[in-house]
Amino acid sequence: MPDIILPKTRYYGSKRKIIDKIWNIIVNEANLEFDSVLDVFGGSASFSYYAKLNQKQVLYNDIFQFNTIIGRKLIEQNTNELTYENAVKLFERLPEVNYLNHIAEYYNDIYFTDEENNQIDIYIQNVLALENENVKCSALYILFQSCLMKRPYNLFHRRNLNMRLNYKKGNFGNKQTWERSFQELFIRFIKELDKVCIDNGRINTAYNFSALNCHLGADLVYIDPPYFKKESSTSYHSKYHFLEGLVNYYDIPNNINFNKKNKEININASREFEDKTNFLNDLRILISNHIDSHIVISYRNNGIPSIEEISELLRSFNLFNVVEYNLGKYNYALNKNNEFNEEILLICKNLNKI
Ligand SMILES: C[S@@+](CC[C@H](N)C(=O)[O-])C[C@H]1O[C@@H](n2cnc3c(N)ncnc32)[C@H](O)[C@@H]1O
Repeated sequence: MPDIILPKTRYYGSKRKIIDKIWNIIVNEANLEFDSVLDVFGGSASFSYYAKLNQKQVLYNDIFQFNTIIGRKLIEQNTNELTYENAVKLFERLPEVNYLNHIAEYYNDIYFTDEENNQIDIYIQNVLALENENVKCSALYILFQSCLMKRPYNLFHRRNLNMRLNYKKGNFGNKQTWERSFQELFIRFIKELDKVCIDNGRINTAYNFSALNCHLGADLVYIDPPYFKKESSTSYHSKYHFLEGLVNYYDIPNNINFNKKNKEININASREFEDKTNFLNDLRILISNHIDSHIVISYRNNGIPSIEEISELLRSFNLFNVVEYNLGKYNYALNKNNEFNEEILLICKNLNKI
C-alpha cells in the first residue's frame, strides 16, 4: 500500500494507534478470509477506515448521530467538497436568518469561552441549513474534531472550562491546543480531509443504529464496545452528549438535564452496552444476531466482565474457534495508570466458513 494516512482524532477509545496491529492479526495471523466488514461500535471509524483502505466493503455503525456523520464522511463519501474559505464563511451571520443562541445561553462558562459559544451557535445553524450532504458532513466533521481538541481531556463529562482558562505550567493538559481558534484548527482538518477522503471502488455505508438494533450483515463483524473498569466509568453519552446535541441543535433546550453540573443533553442516551451488570447479556444477544460471520472483539485485560467470562460466552455458542491475542500495553490518551492495561483481541473464526 502507498503511504498510509489515517485521520487523526482525540476520540476516546479510538484504535487508530494500534489498527495496523489489529489488522495484521486478523489477516496474517488468524488468516480470516472476508470481503465485507460491519463495524458495530464504529466511533472514530479507525477500523472502518483501515478496512476501506484494504478494499473491503465497509458498513460502519454507531449509536450516536455525530459519530455516524464521521462515518459518512470517512467511509461512505469518497471526496471532500468543502474548501477552507467556505468553511470559515460559515461563521458569518446571514442577514436573512434569525439565529438562536442555545450554546451561548445555556453553556456559558461550561465548555467554551463566550466568543467560541457565539461562533458555534452561528456555525452550526448555517451548517444544518446546507443542502449539499458532502459539504455538510465535512463542515460537521471539522467542527467535531476541533471541539474535541479544544477540551480538557477531550471530553464533555465535566464543567471544566476554568481548568483550561486557569491552566498553569505543570498542570495536566495542553493549553496551546485548547486556545487554538476554530479557524486555525479548521486549516488542519480541511487539509486532512482532502487527503483521507478516498474511493476504494466499493459502496460503503454508515448507519446509526444501537448495536442490538443493527440487523446488517457482513463476513466479519468487528465489536469494540464501551469498556468498564473496576472504578465507575463515565458513559460514552456523558462523554460526548454535547456533540450529539449540536447535531440536534433545535432540540437542545428541551433535553438539558439541569440537575447535572455539565448540563448533559439527554439525546440518544441508552443503557445498552453501558451497564456493566448487563453487558454479557447484551453481548450474547449481539453475537446471536451474527452467527454466520467471523467475529472480532477488542477488549482489555482488566475490564468488567473479564476476558475469561467473555471467552466462555463465545465458546458456549459452539460455532467459533476462539483465539485470544494480546497486543501488549496500550497507552490510552489521558490514562495515567496503565500499568496493567493491555489490549486484547478475541478472534472468533466461524467454523461454518472454514
Ligand atoms: C470503544 S468505542 C469504539 C471506538 C472505535 N473502534 C474507534 O476506533 O474509534 C465504543 C463506541 O460504541 C458506541 N456505542 C456505545 N453504546 C452503543 C450501542 N449500544 N450501540 C452502538 N454503538 C454504541 C460509542 O458511541 C463509541 O463510539
